[in-house]
Amino acid sequence: MRIQRLQLEQFRSYRKLDWVLPEASIHLLLGRNGAGKTNILESIGVLSEGESFLGRDEEELVLWGEQYYRIRAEIRSDTKEENVLEAVSERSPRKRRAFFVRDVRAPAKEFFGILPTVIFLPQDLDLFTGSPTHRRRLLDRTLQQVSPRYRMTLDTYQKTLKQRAALLRHIAQGTGRRDDLALWNAILAKEGAQVTLRRLELLEVLQCTLSEELHRLGEAWDQPAFQYERTSKARTADSIEEEILQELARIEERDILLQATSTGPHRDDWGIRVSDRDLPSFASRGQQRTAVLALLFLLGSYLELQRGEKPVILLDDVFSELDTNHQKALLSAFGDHQVFITATHAPKSLAEAMIWQVEEGSIQPMNISVPV
Ligand SMILES: Nc1ncnc2c1ncn2[C@@H]1O[C@H](COP(=O)(O)OP(=O)(O)OP(=O)(O)O)[C@@H](O)[C@H]1O
Ligand SMILES: [Mg+2]
Repeated sequence: MRIQRLQLEQFRSYRKLDWVLPEASIHLLLGRNGAGKTNILESIGVLSEGESFLGRDEEELVLWGEQYYRIRAEIRSDTKEENVLEAVSERSPRKRRAFFVRDVRAPAKEFFGILPTVIFLPQDLDLFTGSPTHRRRLLDRTLQQVSPRYRMTLDTYQKTLKQRAALLRHIAQGTGRRDDLALWNAILAKEGAQVTLRRLELLEVLQCTLSEELHRLGEAWDQPAFQYERTSKARTADSIEEEILQELARIEERDILLQATSTGPHRDDWGIRVSDRDLPSFASRGQQRTAVLALLFLLGSYLELQRGEKPVILLDDVFSELDTNHQKALLSAFGDHQVFITATHAPKSLAEAMIWQVEEGSIQPMNISVPV
């Protein structure tokens, strides 16, 4: 998949942008801190995933003082089929969003997934030592791109968590009924079972080529394996649902005290284990980055297999953080993809890139070549 033209209207720092992209595979966006480089990648992320990859609210995506934003992209599939995607988000007078494919309104479930992306952010560099929230989001974002159903399931699950938390608060204050928890517990268990199952399946698919991918990157670890950590041990939707229900009942007292739901897939975690050791417990920082890269390549292949399209690769502020070997591995793995890289200074290894200067609200091609 390639983006051929990107148009922004009132999206973050861009009042109006019309960016026509030539054929080049690698686009290097250079600019000082705060110039608007990440904002560009974020707009592509919104078209791909429906939300900011930095977890920002819709309100924060609209140019300050304005009421709506619009993102439009002309894209071309790997089989040279052209398409146009547009997302409009209005915050006032009404909060509403609309999606268009070739100027025809499309339901969200048909829109998301058309433009697959793999996104690599600075916090991914420390993926295995960082927050579990980030690790969960990485799996969820991939699953949402391949399955509109997963998007809906996760959405229902998250809304139900909020409703259950509100009820827990009322119970703690003496204004809510304990019996009413059963309704929310049933929804959480049903949707939560699906979330758990899909994540387990994804890790199982990635597992098939994990060892090979690590090997290619120079790490010959003995039987590296993804490990999904959860309270339930069950493996079918019905049995996971049953176990979540039992767990919710068991910790009800604590949940009322905490006024939050303390079990379920929103608390699960995952990592990589090698010979019964957790990766961060033995791997050096560089080796952990190798594992992160291997994971990115696995996700890229997974998306390509599922969607039949090579995903667009968005590398925000990470390329210059990698050592030369990792940079080379990345460029060779994604050599035939469209890749967007942001940086404040041109990395030496990017001699082939198309270079753009990003400045307050504009993008200009740069004529200088990268020093080699
Ligand atoms: N809603 C908004 N409306 C207008 N401007 C905004 C909005 N949100 C952010 N900005 C501007 O965008 C700038 C941040 O842009 P961005 O994060 O893309 O910078 P960057 O080039 O990636 O910088 P860095 O190199 O530090 O990562 C902020 O400094 C702010 O001025
Ligand atoms: Mg940035």
